[in-house]
Amino acid sequence: MDWHIRFSDEKDCLVLLDQRVLPTREEWFECTDTTSTIYALQTMVVRGAPAIGVTAAYGCYLAAREAAGEGWEARLETLLADLAAARPTAVNLRWAVNRMQEARAARPELDYDGLCAFWLSLAKEIHEEDKRLCRQIGVHGATVLEDGDTVMTHCNAGALATADYGTALGVIRGAVDAGKKIDVIANETRPFLQGARLTAYELQVDGIPVRVACDNACSLLMKKGMVDRVVVGADRIAANGDAANKIGTSGVALLAKHYGVPFYVAAPLSTIDRDTADGDAIPIENRPAREVTHVGETQITPDGVEVFNFAFDVTPAELIAGIVTEVGVLRPPYTNAIAQAFEKKAQE
Ligand code: MRU
Repeated sequence: MDWHIRFSDEKDCLVLLDQRVLPTREEWFECTDTTSTIYALQTMVVRGAPAIGVTAAYGCYLAAREAAGEGWEARLETLLADLAAARPTAVNLRWAVNRMQEARAARPELDYDGLCAFWLSLAKEIHEEDKRLCRQIGVHGATVLEDGDTVMTHCNAGALATADYGTALGVIRGAVDAGKKIDVIANETRPFLQGARLTAYELQVDGIPVRVACDNACSLLMKKGMVDRVVVGADRIAANGDAANKIGTSGVALLAKHYGVPFYVAAPLSTIDRDTADGDAIPIENRPAREVTHVGETQITPDGVEVFNFAFDVTPAELIAGIVTEVGVLRPPYTNAIAQAFEKKAQE
């Protein structure tokens, strides 16, 4: 499914499938300026690191359009800084804004109208590129899964979290496309329920067998031998291979280690942040308490009780059997493998 993020040339705005209300309702959200784009990112109308990157690229164009008039350059800088700060953990957000700015720096001859046209076409290019990268992740990832595997995944690293196909779900789709029979266990992923709502939804649409498990069933399922592999996405991978992903992922990885289940991370190189030395330096987003105190409109905790809502945790590199990227499956030691992957990409 590649229709959940689209740019409407007619309306000159970004149109997003609202992931807050899936799978029971199909509603659309229009980003017309920086404020609405930041709102969509922060409230998770759109979420998932690569999809956040694609949205941010269009967001740069919308910011440029909004900045029109006398003194537009200074206004644009402020809008882009606000956009880049919308969510702190997924490095694809900053990556996309930086890429747009670097491309602009390489075209100093562009006037205001020229920049707007250039940025819209570059955002569309980044959007299409993400589709290709996910397919490549799928081709490489298919090699780490065996015919007949039951694969556990956490959160949603699927088509909805990317431009199409997905990263972790791209690995699963790649194996299925290669003729392997794969069953999926989708951890429900409290509190936003990306697994229960989104992973289950898109795999069901594709006809890939999926069962939803409570997050706290992971140990039991692994102890019973019901999980052959774990594949998850990432929001930021540090230079040493430590990988930040949805809260609960590191617990799954620790259990996988205990029960001897290979644990893989799938992500494009744009999710690898070589400026971040290790996982301790990755900023962890702290989200509104209401996501934990309520399920939908129903309050489930006593009035006024304090809760934790850290949105991500970091899985140490030593628990990761391989990182599946568009240039291949990286194996430990990751510091070398990551450096080589970027060299390979630069030569393509
Ligand atoms: O808070 P979210 O839903 O944006 O978190 C998403 C994840 O943790 C995904 O696993 C990650 O971004 C990879 S998406 C291909």
